[in-house]
Amino acid sequence: MRRLWRSVLDVLPLYDPGPPLESLAAELGRADVVRLSANENPLGPSPRAVAAVAREAARIHLYPDGGSTALREALAHHLGVRADQFVVGNGADELIALVASAAFEPGDEVIVPEPSFEPYAIGATLAGARVVSSPLAAYDTDLADIRRRLTDRTKAVMLCSPHNPATTIIRRSALLGFLDALGTDPPLVVLDEAYHDFCDDAEYPDGIALLARYPRLIVLRTFSKIAGLAGLRVGYAVANAETIDRLNRVRAPYNVNRLGQVAALAALEDKEHEERTRRLVLEERAFLSAELARRGYRFPRSHANFLLVAVPDAPARRARLLKAGILVRDGASVGFPGHLRFSVGLHETNAQLVSLL
Ligand SMILES: Cc1ncc(COP(=O)(O)O)c(C=O)c1O
Repeated sequence: MRRLWRSVLDVLPLYDPGPPLESLAAELGRADVVRLSANENPLGPSPRAVAAVAREAARIHLYPDGGSTALREALAHHLGVRADQFVVGNGADELIALVASAAFEPGDEVIVPEPSFEPYAIGATLAGARVVSSPLAAYDTDLADIRRRLTDRTKAVMLCSPHNPATTIIRRSALLGFLDALGTDPPLVVLDEAYHDFCDDAEYPDGIALLARYPRLIVLRTFSKIAGLAGLRVGYAVANAETIDRLNRVRAPYNVNRLGQVAALAALEDKEHEERTRRLVLEERAFLSAELARRGYRFPRSHANFLLVAVPDAPARRARLLKAGILVRDGASVGFPGHLRFSVGLHETNAQLVSLL
């Protein structure tokens, strides 16, 4: 028999993002289902982004700018690095895949905290690299363990801060100590900061500020969370220009569509929406944390727009919440059995969630 498909596909887990919101609502027979399982923005998109999409709609017969030039220039302006230090992707998801296809090959090892955001391991496996798992220390990324697992074959270390799903961060001194210890010929270090806007800890380092000192660092960010553009799929990697050149060689020519580019540009200018989102998430995260702690629940302090909470009988509780129209993630599906993971929602939803739990 002719073998058609790569054998690695037989062992690759299928990433399960859960059912589409629309079919879930139809199945439950209620239009008011609130999804707290995907860490989306409870306030919706920036109104300026919505207006930009509406304006751009008449031009969707034209290919987009393949290089997302205007968006990269705006990002450069906002973040104080050069435009050639950015590659924009179809969500940060695509950037993880681009790093894998540009850098990883059979024989390489990629160190991935376990559990963590699944696409890291999927991308590495697909590229033929060996995934070396580094267990979290309870809920924290264990940099000492990662160091012990480094070898000459280590091509990359995947770090996520704030961590999905554990909600914890890697503090500045720990991160710098780790990066310094990698020496003069380090592997790539991918620092996924998808949730950085929700962290208000003074010890949280800004990955982009570290790029000048650590040339093999790649920082990932996204417009899906704070800007509320998850449905348009826009994320970006920031790194040195040589790394960006490598990533550009493996991306599709028109990877980010016209609507995504104009919406992200508009969202970048909409500081008011960004600030409203941040304020809501921080206030409501504090509310949820206090209410859950008062009821005796155990969970790590969250630095993200979601919480990971230890509960007895997680599947039954998830089912009960779903019946009431609130969709949360069973921790078992993200490597934390006996937990629920749920996004910070609007106050009314959060209050309902706490009382239903
Ligand atoms: C840690 C982490 N990185 C990256 C992403 C992907 O973001 P995007 O929507 O930009 O693909 C997510 C999405 O949930 C995430 O949790």
